[in-house]
Amino acid sequence: MSTSINKFTTTSFLKAKKEGKKISMLTAYDYPMAKLLDEAGIDCLLVGDSLGMVVLGYETTLQVTVDDIIHHCKAVARGAKRAHITADMPFLSYHISVEESVRNAGRLIQEGGASAVKLEGGRNVIDNIKAIVNAQIPVMGHLGLTPQSINMLGGYKVQGTTLDQSKKLIEEAELLQQAGVFSIVLECVPEKLAKLISEKLDIPTIGIGAGKYCDGQVLVTQDMLGIYSDLKPKFVKQYAQLGNTISSACTQYISETQQQQFPAAEHSFTIDDEILAKLY
Ligand code: KIV
Repeated sequence: MSTSINKFTTTSFLKAKKEGKKISMLTAYDYPMAKLLDEAGIDCLLVGDSLGMVVLGYETTLQVTVDDIIHHCKAVARGAKRAHITADMPFLSYHISVEESVRNAGRLIQEGGASAVKLEGGRNVIDNIKAIVNAQIPVMGHLGLTPQSINMLGGYKVQGTTLDQSKKLIEEAELLQQAGVFSIVLECVPEKLAKLISEKLDIPTIGIGAGKYCDGQVLVTQDMLGIYSDLKPKFVKQYAQLGNTISSACTQYISETQQQQFPAAEHSFTIDDEILAKLY
């Protein structure tokens, strides 16, 4: 008897918004974490370009390549049975030309095993979004703090705090919806502005540092598990302190190795004494 898995799909995002069910999303970059998060019931796994910072140790996300995302997305796809997988389009993979944008988005689907792509920006990338959607590739938008624009924004700051900025954010969210995106990440946006945008749109908003009124939430897994400590954004809630757990496990292992307490008999293999005697 086969048990069918009720996969979370692009249409599940829209259904969730209609039914008022909040969407849960976390980042994943490898097989074991994807499997754990999938089994816990997460709706969407994002193979984010945050990979560059929290896994590869770069200072920003700008060094991440399409090949990096594909490599990690393949592992995530092997681990996830139910969760929807969205892959980030990294810096410069959707800026040079419409053709290149479609080709790169296609690679994330065909080679990476993702079901959708996410890209940052509004009006500046609208033609690229339309072309990707035309190629039948679902697109998730990303507005507000867009880390690939860090050098233009001058730092990781809250966006949409002035009247002009807020109007622009609302306009761009509507523009993205018209272009055919199936959801939009709102990053570092005041809670009440994110609420207004969420109410204006038919598609779901997924917030990160955008308050509780968004239609879903996303966090970087390494942040919420307390594994990555180089940056601690205000919007992160640490649900576990795995960094501390890993450190103390490692300290104990070092000490037990030095004291010859590890490996114990139960971790070792035996050989017949008669065979052993013939070896001496
Ligand atoms: O790359 C990433 O992890 C992201 C999230 C912060 C939304 O884009």
